[in-house]
Amino acid sequence: MKCGEKLMKKEHRKNIPYGHQSLSGSDIKYVSDVLRSDWLTQGPSIGIFENKLSKVCGVRYATVVSSGTAALHLAYLASGIGKDDEVITTPNTFVATTNMLLAVGAKPIFCDIRLDTYNIEENKIEKLITPRTKAIVPVHFAGNPCNMAVIMAIAKKHRLIVIEDACHALGSAYKNKKIGSIGDMTIFSFHPVKTITTGEGGAVVTNSKAYAATVKLLRSHGVAKKKTGFNVMTEFGYNYRLTDVCASLGISQLDRLGNFLKKRKVITEKYREYLYKNPHIILPTEAPDSSSAWHLYVILVRDWKDRLPLYNFLKRNGIGANFHYPPVYSHPFYRKHGYKNVRLQSADFYASRAITLPIFPDLSVDEVARISNLVNAFFKIMIR
Ligand SMILES: Cc1ncc(COP(=O)(O)O)c(C=O)c1O
Repeated sequence: MKCGEKLMKKEHRKNIPYGHQSLSGSDIKYVSDVLRSDWLTQGPSIGIFENKLSKVCGVRYATVVSSGTAALHLAYLASGIGKDDEVITTPNTFVATTNMLLAVGAKPIFCDIRLDTYNIEENKIEKLITPRTKAIVPVHFAGNPCNMAVIMAIAKKHRLIVIEDACHALGSAYKNKKIGSIGDMTIFSFHPVKTITTGEGGAVVTNSKAYAATVKLLRSHGVAKKKTGFNVMTEFGYNYRLTDVCASLGISQLDRLGNFLKKRKVITEKYREYLYKNPHIILPTEAPDSSSAWHLYVILVRDWKDRLPLYNFLKRNGIGANFHYPPVYSHPFYRKHGYKNVRLQSADFYASRAITLPIFPDLSVDEVARISNLVNAFFKIMIR
């Protein structure tokens, strides 16, 4: 048995999580090589990972940081988003997308979502634009690309910056362009449930030399080496550095990205095969002209009253069903801080019906069948 193979053997697991990392012998070798080297942080693996990531995304610059949240923070700072600026985004996202807007003093403006991809409804963006609007932050929910043609055209017309939150979408493509190569900046997360992992980790990718330089400066305290050889602080920055240990895992995981994407796709095809006849649920589909990284597999129950009982039934049977996401404005913190009365029809409709089923590269076809059988059985037993 090869190194690491034992870690992957989970055929008969009782409990199936909604997402899980896939670690191979090669991942473990890359990491242990770094542990035996002189570098633990910001050594040669950082540059190698960044080069490789920029190639995968079809973009000139990649800067890796300690998390997707750090990537958002630095992208917002680099683009000059600040106090009282308005930024239009989706409510169907993880809170980090908008928390980091609050961190730089900006105001998130929530735009309703589409009911086919659950992404931002691009045709509702323009009427939210005011003289204070500075940027649009589309989030490629579950890996499905937003309608970037329309979003980029609106941004151009109104001179807005586009920062894509692609935490779900490493490896996704839109009109034959890799996600990462379209907006002004794109950010990724390498949390263990994401398409590739570095433990914790994230990145900002861009074609702009200036944005890349600012992100790089701010990730390490705003301190730069001057020609004299001395380090001086020129901007207010942070310690958002990724370690070499994490970057080495990222290098190895990027080699496996194509395989991960194929496996995720096969899982979605199997779910469709087992669930398409079920009249009580709506299955997810890929956006037109796109390929999705299928970070999440979200189904909708047609009758919202089935949602919690189905979720509990799956949980009782060891299936790590999940919920992505309550609309950001509905979180108690946001309700308390200026979003008390925000309600968006499609986002609320979606949130009352969505359930995330497990999807990750090592999920077996048998496990997909087991999960699907439970979903189908629920509607037979509970309703009929
Ligand atoms: C859409 C989205 N944005 C941002 C983040 C934050 O990424 P991280 O957990 O790496 O900080 C996540 C992570 O779950 C996410 O799903």
